[in-house]
Amino acid sequence: MNEVLKLLFIGDIVGEIGLQAVIKFLPSLVEKYAIEAVIVNGENIHEGKSLQKRHADQLFTAGVKMITTGNHVWERWEAKPLLREEKRILRPLNYPRENGGHGFGVFEAQGTRVGVLNIQGRTFMPAIDCPFKASDRALEKLHEETNIIIVDMHAEATAEKQAMSRYLDGRVTAVLGTHTHVQTADERILPNGTAFISDVGMSGPYDSCVGLRSDIAIRRFMYSTPHKYETATDEVKIAAVVIDIDRHTGRALAIERVMFPDFDRTSISTEELSVSENH
Ligand SMILES: [Fe+2]
Repeated sequence: MNEVLKLLFIGDIVGEIGLQAVIKFLPSLVEKYAIEAVIVNGENIHEGKSLQKRHADQLFTAGVKMITTGNHVWERWEAKPLLREEKRILRPLNYPRENGGHGFGVFEAQGTRVGVLNIQGRTFMPAIDCPFKASDRALEKLHEETNIIIVDMHAEATAEKQAMSRYLDGRVTAVLGTHTHVQTADERILPNGTAFISDVGMSGPYDSCVGLRSDIAIRRFMYSTPHKYETATDEVKIAAVVIDIDRHTGRALAIERVMFPDFDRTSISTEELSVSENH
């Protein structure tokens, strides 16, 4: 068995179009980077908010092992039974327990156990339980099963994500920021062996404002009132990171940013992806 486990984490999938892009291009990404385990953040698939069982099933069929989420997962009540029943879909652990669902879990990739923890920041976000203390509690349990642990830190504030990465440095394999939908260029290995990036970025339509149709986003900001949320459809890209993990120690050896196609090249054309948002 190879000493290095290569894991792909795909950033927030936005809309059906983002989902179809991931389904279509995942095999080529897996082959290119020799990936053995895939995790995605899927909180924005269902018209930009939450996800349904059929979305999750498509991802699992495509080889995804675990789906993380965030604040938007709760915006459709149907998600609650799904989160309770499906242990491979995580919700941020530090939301009140009474909401049901699972904040962390373990999957197996080629005989190696990988733990995944989903937590959420509190700065400019709902006032939920402390993500630092919640992480401590989860790690006590996860460390009984594996020393390879990937943390999705779903948060708005860069400083809060950095603070979490420093807090967990040496105790987990990676702290990966999600939620802002803009990939940051600060990926690195911290002093005690934890990989970190402030935000993995969005897998979805880039002719938009973080996935939302730009004209609607402009009206929201100009008029300060709600406007119907509609995801954009053009200039689709997949944002991700590849992490090289020492299978025995659980330490991250390398982290690489992925933007497919990159910004210098053309995007995945909408015509390539047959999608209907109306279900
Ligand atoms: Fe979010």
